[in-house]
Amino acid sequence: MDALSTHPRFSERFLLRPFERRDVKPIVEAVQASLPELHEWLPWARPGYNKDDAQAFVRDSQRSWKEGRAFDFVIRRPSEPTRHIGNISVWHVSKAFHTGEIGYWVRTDETAHGIATEVTRRMLQVAFDELSMHRVILRIAVGNRASERVAQKLGFTHEGVLREEIKVRGQWLDHMVWGLLEHEYRKLAAPQA
Ligand SMILES: CC(C)(COP(=O)(O)OP(=O)(O)OC[C@H]1O[C@@H](n2cnc3c(N)ncnc32)[C@H](O)[C@@H]1OP(=O)(O)O)[C@@H](O)C(=O)NCCC(=O)NCCS
Repeated sequence: MDALSTHPRFSERFLLRPFERRDVKPIVEAVQASLPELHEWLPWARPGYNKDDAQAFVRDSQRSWKEGRAFDFVIRRPSEPTRHIGNISVWHVSKAFHTGEIGYWVRTDETAHGIATEVTRRMLQVAFDELSMHRVILRIAVGNRASERVAQKLGFTHEGVLREEIKVRGQWLDHMVWGLLEHEYRKLAAPQA
């Protein structure tokens, strides 16, 4: 299935919804406030990130959602709807074999409070229950210990390393692949007896 409903989803503390044009300013503020950390791991997060970049991102995000290519969500607290906490996205890597991927970032002054773990757990529900995925992966650059920890906390298995898969700050980085299968997810999500 390619389509995904645009209704907001909720995790314990956060509201997750598709991007809108009014998000441009809050995105720029959050990215600029988090640049040193984002720049370390994400190729798009370069110094000088500005309104044009955020506008292009929002436009592409809306088009991608319509075309079923990727589903990007804003992370917000319901009590602070204009403060951008970060992004979380889910997309298909292989539609034929029902494999998907999740990606995320969290603004620096909110890290280490379990936010990425909480919203990724909610996105796994979208991936397995709404998009009928069989397998979900996270690709995490070697050395990104915080993101690795998110994968571990959610029960992903480290499957291997893709050598020099992305270029960030002019340097090739190796990517670890972490995978979670649907039956593993169901077992982890089931209430303990
Ligand atoms: C990676 C990132 C999304 C984590 O977000 P977060 O909301 O802080 O994640 P959580 O709080 O759910 O979990 C982070 C875990 O990493 C741990 N951690 C943080 N920095 C660490 C480090 N340098 N070394 C080891 N562990 C670290 C935290 O203590 C926490 O683990 P714990 O709950 O066992 O204490 C955020 O740091 C970020 O956006 N970084 C920049 C962009 C990025 O790397 N995106 C992901 C690309 S794959």
